[in-house]
Amino acid sequence: MSAHKGKTARVTAPQITARKGGESIVALTSYHAHTAKLADPHVDILLVGDSVGMVLYGHGSTIPVTLDMMIVHGRVVASATEHALVVVDMPFGSYEESPQQAFRNAARVMKETGCGAVKLEGGERMAETIAFLTARGIPVMAHVGLTPQSVNALGGFFVQGREEEQWAAIENDARAVADAGAFCVVVEAVAEPLARRITETCPVPTIGIGASAACDGQILVMEDMLGLNPAPPKFVKTYADLAGSIESAISEYAAEVRSRVFPGPEHVYGMKKRS
Ligand code: KIV
Repeated sequence: MSAHKGKTARVTAPQITARKGGESIVALTSYHAHTAKLADPHVDILLVGDSVGMVLYGHGSTIPVTLDMMIVHGRVVASATEHALVVVDMPFGSYEESPQQAFRNAARVMKETGCGAVKLEGGERMAETIAFLTARGIPVMAHVGLTPQSVNALGGFFVQGREEEQWAAIENDARAVADAGAFCVVVEAVAEPLARRITETCPVPTIGIGASAACDGQILVMEDMLGLNPAPPKFVKTYADLAGSIESAISEYAAEVRSRVFPGPEHVYGMKKRS
C-alpha cells in the first residue's frame, strides 16, 4: 500500500480504517503542489493541515486560518496527487457551532478541493458533529490529545496525559470519536503509556504525532522533518537539512551573480541561424 508505481486508485478512508493493528500508516502534511507530488508515492495520507497558518503564513497559532485558505491549499494538493488520501483540516470557527455549520463548510471543502476527507479537532464534545458528517458521506479524521486550536484555553502547546488523572478524559475522547464514525484519529503530544492505552482500546487507527511508536501510524509536519523549522518540537526527527541547503544555494547564486559567473554561456539564448 505504501510505495507505488504508475497510476493506481487513491487510498480511501475505509482502507485506512482497515489497517488498524496492521501495516503502519504513513502520513505527512503538505500545503503545496510540488511537495505533495514528491510525497504522494510514499505516503498513505497527505494532510493539508491548518498548521499552514504557522508554517507558511508565519502566524503564532492556527487560530487565524480561514476556510478559504484551507480550500486554496487543499485544491492544489488534491490536484497535484493521485495516490494518497488527501485530508483537509477544518479551521477554527468553521465547525464548532453546530453539526449543520460543520456539514455546510465540510461539504464546501470537499466540493471545492476534491479531497477525500476532512479533519477536525476535539473528542467527546465533537462526537455528535462527527456522527452527523459521517452519516452524510463525509469521512472524518478526528484529533485528540493536544488540540492546537484550543491553545488559548489550554494556555499553551503542552504535552497531554503526563499525569494519570488526565488519562480517562483523553482515552474517552478517542473512544467517543471512533464510536461516532471517525475513520481514524490523530493523537497529538501525549505521554507514551497513554498513547499505547488509547491505541489498544480505540477501534480505529491512531495516527501519532509526538505520541510514540505505539500508535497505528505516524504523521509529521513536512517542513519540520525536512529541517525548515529552526526550533522543531522534541518529537520531530529531521531527515534533511533543507534550510542549510537552501541557504547555501542562495548564497552561491548571489556570489555568482555578483562575480558575473552566472549566467554562463550554456544559459544564454543565441540568434536564429539564417538559411
Ligand atoms: O495542522 C496540522 O498540521 C495537524 C497535524 C500536525 C496533525 O493537525
